[in-house]
Amino acid sequence: MTSQNLYLYTVTALVVLTSVFILRRKQDAKGQQPATKPHPLASVPPEKLPEYIRSLLAELPGCIILQSDVEAFQQAVESSWAQQNREIVPACIVRPGDAQKLGIAVTILKREYDSRSQAGAPIEGFFAIRSGGVNPGLGASTVQDGVVIDLSKFCEVTPAVDGSTVTVGAGAKWIDVYKRLDEEGLVVIGGRNSPVGVGGLTLQGGISFYSPRFGFVCSNVVSYEVVLANGSVVTASASVHPELWQVLKGGSSNFGIVTRFTLRSLPSAPLWAAQIIAPASFQHAKAIKVYHDYLEHASSNQPGAFDENAAGPILSFVYVQRIGLKLISINLAYTKAPEDKEWPLHWKDTGFPSLWSFSRRSAVESHTTAVERFGRTAPAGTRFTMGTTTIRNNAETMRAAYAIFCQTTTELRHVKGLIFPFVFQTILPGWANKGYPNVLGLEGCTEPLIIINCAVTWTETKDDVLVRSAVRHLLEQIDTAAVARQSDHPYRFMNYCTEWQRPYEGCGEKNVKLMQKASQEYDPDGLFQNGCTGGFKLDFSSR
Ligand SMILES: Cc1cc2nc3c(=O)[nH]c(=O)nc-3n(C[C@H](O)[C@H](O)[C@H](O)COP(=O)(O)OP(=O)(O)OC[C@H]3O[C@@H](n4cnc5c(N)ncnc54)[C@H](O)[C@@H]3O)c2cc1C
Ligand SMILES: *[C@@H]1O[C@H](CO)[C@@H](O)[C@H](O)[C@H]1NC(C)=O
Repeated sequence: MTSQNLYLYTVTALVVLTSVFILRRKQDAKGQQPATKPHPLASVPPEKLPEYIRSLLAELPGCIILQSDVEAFQQAVESSWAQQNREIVPACIVRPGDAQKLGIAVTILKREYDSRSQAGAPIEGFFAIRSGGVNPGLGASTVQDGVVIDLSKFCEVTPAVDGSTVTVGAGAKWIDVYKRLDEEGLVVIGGRNSPVGVGGLTLQGGISFYSPRFGFVCSNVVSYEVVLANGSVVTASASVHPELWQVLKGGSSNFGIVTRFTLRSLPSAPLWAAQIIAPASFQHAKAIKVYHDYLEHASSNQPGAFDENAAGPILSFVYVQRIGLKLISINLAYTKAPEDKEWPLHWKDTGFPSLWSFSRRSAVESHTTAVERFGRTAPAGTRFTMGTTTIRNNAETMRAAYAIFCQTTTELRHVKGLIFPFVFQTILPGWANKGYPNVLGLEGCTEPLIIINCAVTWTETKDDVLVRSAVRHLLEQIDTAAVARQSDHPYRFMNYCTEWQRPYEGCGEKNVKLMQKASQEYDPDGLFQNGCTGGFKLDFSSR
């Protein structure tokens, strides 16, 4: 590469980084604007509300936010993280302060469900459950003209006396959990991004910086407090309701509303984290090769090849529409910070440090700081969609996937404000089954898997359909490319799935049967299967 080119790339990189920074600041500012606009539906008088909503009002005073409480309502609507979900307008928000009150709410919803069933009226999706509200799936945790169960008051963080577990409310955000636990010198196996909620992440699987040491986040839940369809509050653990305890590890919103999680904890310690930023134009092939070779090595039987402190690698290709360029961002972490704060040997011995890069930062920081930093990469209040697929560690498929990504971003080059990260993460056989048994379907995992994830932001409503269909088409093309090279895999990481995906198809028959059985036992009339929207439903059609 000539020095002139080098200069060009360096300048471009600076422009990119600055624009991304400015853009984020602008979006952050927008996200924080107070709700001043009166709500269009604020005029519905309470006496015109459906009967079940009037029952909620009567039986749960102080817990119901109606559209006519303009400011509180608007604020509650804007606690959805993605802009398109803030545009969905529920009939009311139910925000109970304890599990008994939530039980009353569920009983009223069940009564409504039963009477609709008897009358032959539509029963589909008239309420939704929201913990952190971050899931960007369209209507994942909100529902047009329905009831949103908002768990934001379930935000306790209570360490056990012996420090071995921590009980955390479903509506807490991970950053608040970690900040509170810093005071105790503890950490839990939880999310890596500040705004994300405990409930959704933990029920869908969840990947943590500590996953190589302890497994999926869900596999580290010692017990759950759950409100069932009949309104009763139960605990599920290895000894009480053990089948419910297992299916909640990946079973999302299919069995009840979880109010509290008791999570395994460990002493907190600083971690080492690095980010490498490189131009995609002439480093993409090398980055893919390095990634592929690393996974092959880390899943081999060579002594020391798998290192339970090595989190990541996360390889992102990011297309930034404003400047029409693609960048590579690689994130590496190590949960046992080296004393000299330098690169841990494990990562030094890989191909990552030898990539030609614009910038390369590494630091020893607290887990909380790392989570805050990661959280800043995606601001709240933007139009945002995800979508995921899984492939085996096949270099040709990875290259094909990258080419499909390039083609997609070319097609979308006129979409204003498009920022399109295309991200590779891995599940290694060394950790896939650590922790308590779950229903994710990875029992037989003996090879490294690559989770491919799109996490796309854009500006204008008019591009919604175009972007969403392009992401879907991209994922379908990757699946076809993977099948052609026998490197497809049925598992889908539910946390990154979008509304049209069917993650349970990849959980294996045995796990689906376990979930179906638990659903029949704990929710025999299918309140959560039918009445609750979002969070991916079991398919009973093959019963
Ligand atoms: C910026 C960003 C960063 C992310 N980082 C990570 C990460 O580091 N690791 C990771 O694994 N994933 C990550 N994710 C994905 C994340 O795990 C999912 O989006 C998750 O669903 C969000 O949880 P939540 O509680 O905020 O979501 P919500 O939108 O509140 O809920 C999501 C779904 O879960 C169901 N649900 C939620 N709470 C309950 C409950 N208490 N009882 C029953 N059902 C419930 C709901 O039905 C809903 O459909 C990230 C996503 C984004 C957008
Ligand atoms: C509610 O359902 C659970 C699980 O099936 C059951 O154990 C409990 O007795 C039921 N409670 C009531 C009040 O019916």
